Amino acid sequence: MLVIALCKGRFLEPSLDLLQRTGIRFLDDVASSRKLIFDSADSADNLYRVVLVKPADVPTYVEYGAADIGIAGRDVLLETRADVLQPLDLNFGHCKLAVAGPKGTSSVNGSGQPTIRIATKYPNITLDFYNSRGIPVEIIPLSGSIELAPLIGLADRIVDLVETGRTLRENGLEILEVIAESSARLLINRAGYQTKRDEVRRLIQALEKVVAGGVS
Ligand code: PRP
Repeated sequence: MLVIALCKGRFLEPSLDLLQRTGIRFLDDVASSRKLIFDSADSADNLYRVVLVKPADVPTYVEYGAADIGIAGRDVLLETRADVLQPLDLNFGHCKLAVAGPKGTSSVNGSGQPTIRIATKYPNITLDFYNSRGIPVEIIPLSGSIELAPLIGLADRIVDLVETGRTLRENGLEILEVIAESSARLLINRAGYQTKRDEVRRLIQALEKVVAGGVS
């Protein structure tokens, strides 16, 4: 049996769709249920178990082997720095990880200006980005509604995901600098890639075909 960690939230439907297109079926309606563990309806020698976790936790489940496989955004992988294999870009969930702020500002302050405060769910990526430029910043860690922070004086800038750009636009903010591009990635536990070699490779190959448009 392979255990697959999927994100709750906006990645869930496309992740389930991908799995379904490889032939994996579940007895329950995974997307609408409150359960957290779902077994596939396949035969015992071809069994999959899906577990639902918060997006930022998927790499942890896979790194520690609680899940053999996971689907998560590249943004989350960069932030957690999890030691997992990443064999496949799943080609959905495209977005940018960007510095944003009120229109007309710069992503860095001029010399002599006070340290800029940056609200984000991505403290590691943000620190790496500014440290590599020798720019001191203060991180304000938040877990959601990041765009609010510069609007009410909690931070000067944000580092956050931008998908359509609508949240920024509707709050009078704009991208100041793109840090990284992100999309959904397949993650594999390193040990499981050896010990469950055939099962894991079969699923990777099936997903590769679906992503390449080979299976409808
Ligand atoms: C994400 C992200 C942005 C928004 C970007 O938030 O953190 O706020 O989506 O999407 P857009 O560019 O299409 O507007 P999410 O919806 O996950 O909620 P959150 O504020 O709780 O993080």
